[in-house]
Amino acid sequence: MIFTLTMNPCLDRYLYIDELKVDDTVRVRRFSDYPAGKGIDVSRVIRELGGVSVAVALLGGAIGRKIEELLDSEGVIYTAIRVEPETRINIILQVKEKQYRLSLPGEQVDRTRLEKVRETLQALVREGDVVVISGSLPRGVNPDFYTGIIFMLKQWGARVYFDSDGDNLKAGLIAEPDGIKPNIHELSRISGKNLSEEDIDEVINTATEIKEVNRLKEVIVSLGGEGAIFVGEEGILKVKVPKLPVVSAVGAGDAFLGAYVMKRTEGASIEEALKWAGAAGAATVLTPGTQLCRKEDVLALLNRVEVEKIS
Ligand SMILES: Nc1ncnc2c1ncn2[C@@H]1O[C@H](COP(=O)(O)OP(=O)(O)OP(=O)(O)O)[C@@H](O)[C@H]1O
Ligand SMILES: [Mg+2]
Repeated sequence: MIFTLTMNPCLDRYLYIDELKVDDTVRVRRFSDYPAGKGIDVSRVIRELGGVSVAVALLGGAIGRKIEELLDSEGVIYTAIRVEPETRINIILQVKEKQYRLSLPGEQVDRTRLEKVRETLQALVREGDVVVISGSLPRGVNPDFYTGIIFMLKQWGARVYFDSDGDNLKAGLIAEPDGIKPNIHELSRISGKNLSEEDIDEVINTATEIKEVNRLKEVIVSLGGEGAIFVGEEGILKVKVPKLPVVSAVGAGDAFLGAYVMKRTEGASIEEALKWAGAAGAATVLTPGTQLCRKEDVLALLNRVEVEKIS
């Protein structure tokens, strides 16, 4: 089974407005809510592509319940670890073509709830299962929480993919997850280099170094419209994606990772899995806002994604 872990989910609420006026009532024409949070995204993509996973997420208050409802309506299986503080909400004001993103602060989560995360994973995860851990931690939780969780999962014989940033990513690496999927900015931050899509050799060298130093099985660096680089046991591969009009790239990396993990778990070859990953990421840029990929777009894009073995 595939599990995803989202420690810091949120709800994205889009308010559609014609004009923002000072000192006047602004009428919201309509609004839509989307569950957000990177592990939850991975689970939603797997569902969209016809696979099954269980999303483990910390959820609190009415917003937490709203996320559960939305996941129910999409058919995503989840386990909620209920927490006292209300789940965060992002308000996105869509004023014609302009977007204003307002991110409300999250509150501190009680330590006993963190223990509950370990218990829940212990109850669910068996040897050979895959766990995708994505995103940031709630306010006040030390990055070494990720070190502990990954270490524990590895001891139980799970295969762990970890997608985070900065100090959280560094802390997780200490526990030697099987794979990571940084984008170029995240890879730059953990390596202390200023990497660019234009210097692919330097990206490959850095990914290889991080893989070796931290004894990972694979590092997949996503490069936005430039595709991705895979460095792993099967060698070094480059994923090329078609040039597409970008409506919104939010969640493209999560879609990439979701499709990749799902296909690998089904036993697909590395080339096949990377093709699906590239197509799912690309299909996500075609949809607005927080919406992820549509299966029909992924299928249509599949044979436009090229996977080339570099070495
Ligand atoms: N402009 C684009 N055109 C085509 N495909 C794209 C584009 N941007 C992203 N993709 C696809 O999505 C994948 C992941 O993109 P990206 O590197 O932006 O991830 P990310 O920064 O981790 O995103 P997020 O964290 O918001 O989910 C790329 O490898 C590619 O397959
Ligand atoms: Mg990402």
